[in-house]
Amino acid sequence: MSEFAALGLSDWLVKQCQQLGINKPTPVQENCLPPTLEGRDVMGCAKTGSGKTAAFVLPVLQKLSEDPYGIFCLVLTPTRELAYQIAEQFRVLGKPLGVKDCIVVGGMDMVTQALELSNQPHVVVATPGRLADHIRSSNTFSLRRIQFLILDEADRLLEQGCTDFSSDLEVILGALPAKRQTLLFSATLTDTLQELKNIWNYDQNVPFWTRTVEELDQRYILTPEKVKDAHLVHLIQTFTDEHHDWSIIIFTNTCKNCQVLTMMLREFNFPTISLHSMMKQKQRFANLAKFKASVYRILIATDVAARGLDIPTVQVVINHNTPGLPKIYIHRVGRTARAGRNGVSITLVTQYDIHLVHSIEEQTQTKLKEFPTDEKEVHKILTQVNVARRECEIKLEASDFDEKKEINKRKQMILEGKDPDLEAKRKAELEKIRSRKKKFKERIQESMEQQKQAQVKKSIRKRRLQQQQKKARAGTSSQ
Ligand SMILES: Nc1ncnc2c1ncn2[C@@H]1O[C@H](COP(=O)(O)OP(=O)(O)OP(=O)(O)O)[C@@H](O)[C@H]1O
Ligand SMILES: [Mg+2]
Repeated sequence: MSEFAALGLSDWLVKQCQQLGINKPTPVQENCLPPTLEGRDVMGCAKTGSGKTAAFVLPVLQKLSEDPYGIFCLVLTPTRELAYQIAEQFRVLGKPLGVKDCIVVGGMDMVTQALELSNQPHVVVATPGRLADHIRSSNTFSLRRIQFLILDEADRLLEQGCTDFSSDLEVILGALPAKRQTLLFSATLTDTLQELKNIWNYDQNVPFWTRTVEELDQRYILTPEKVKDAHLVHLIQTFTDEHHDWSIIIFTNTCKNCQVLTMMLREFNFPTISLHSMMKQKQRFANLAKFKASVYRILIATDVAARGLDIPTVQVVINHNTPGLPKIYIHRVGRTARAGRNGVSITLVTQYDIHLVHSIEEQTQTKLKEFPTDEKEVHKILTQVNVARRECEIKLEASDFDEKKEINKRKQMILEGKDPDLEAKRKAELEKIRSRKKKFKERIQESMEQQKQAQVKKSIRKRRLQQQQKKARAGTSSQ
């Protein structure tokens, strides 16, 4: 009997797994499959690339095969690309069952999605914003009978970060039945998840991991800010010279930086492609597909690509900026060294980021090692790289990139039902209040400082007077 069968998985699914090279369950699968099949709520916290997707797809497929209907399962995920990847896993593993899925994400045609939703797919994989929009605007589908709600990258969905999903999640949860199984998955635990675990009765046999995988060689390069790009070019040159079949992901902090670096690396003839939230969705999918198919070996991305993406050819992850939070670091570097493979991560660190490296090391319980570089070679190309970067920046500025960003922001606000002009006014008002508060605070501090100085002067004067009196008394007594 196979190990999967021993966990309660049906023969057809065991066979399907074997056909895909999935023969032995990973720890997270071993721990999550039985309680999920028994109908319990489960929280699966396991390292990146450890098979969390199959840990929820397999039991859902088994339950679906016992009682197939639509809509049976809803999976929520923070990014659009990840939604497609998860739907693909349902399709591949559930092929003998003929699973019908529907992907509901932003940036794609809403009418087509509404039609697909009304055709009662077995599985809906969605990003919260777009699904909430459908729930608000349509009554042609119902989520009232779903048996499974799955939050992949649950900590990201539940935290209140730059993209806050809470109001959309509220709408979605309001449309779901109370009696259902809820499964939460992530490689990083947050306080929110810990709290949930205490409130709800979650089955969680696996220890909470917030570590990186052992197969990952974690390195850093300490560099001044202005030498960063030269290091990047030198690194890529070295990797592409030595390993023709390696794919590299470079993470950076902003869409603009992502665009500039892509243009710059192309100037040096590196086959580079980008992925960030200011690109049209179709372009995003197309670029990711080209990278997955190794048409392009270098992907420059913002954190939109940091979580969940499973691309086996990725051998190197370069952090062009040191991530501000250890968990972002964990997800970024987790794009390599997946499913037992090896991988390298290199983080470019400036003198101002050293404290960030310390908190990453503390969280991951791993010491980052220095990556040996040929400083002489790096300095040889420094001017050439910096000039190329400046030229690319000028080109980008001429292409209205910032203006487009502003337009996108306005569009997003209108979609969220906000008036951009009113929001701008409110922001300006807030700014005024803040600056008034700041000035007031400064004035108080100033007057306190003056008071303090006056007190000090007074006490000095007092002491002097006392000394003079003492001297005078001593004089009279000696006479
Ligand atoms: N039991 C298994 N044996 C071998 N390979 C597996 C097994 N289960 C899953 N895999 C493969 O491992 C790879 C990583 O799986 P998956 O994407 O589910 O990781 P994850 O834990 O969700 O990672 P992340 O935290 O980055 O989202 C996939 O290519 C998947 O096909
Ligand atoms: Mg995953």
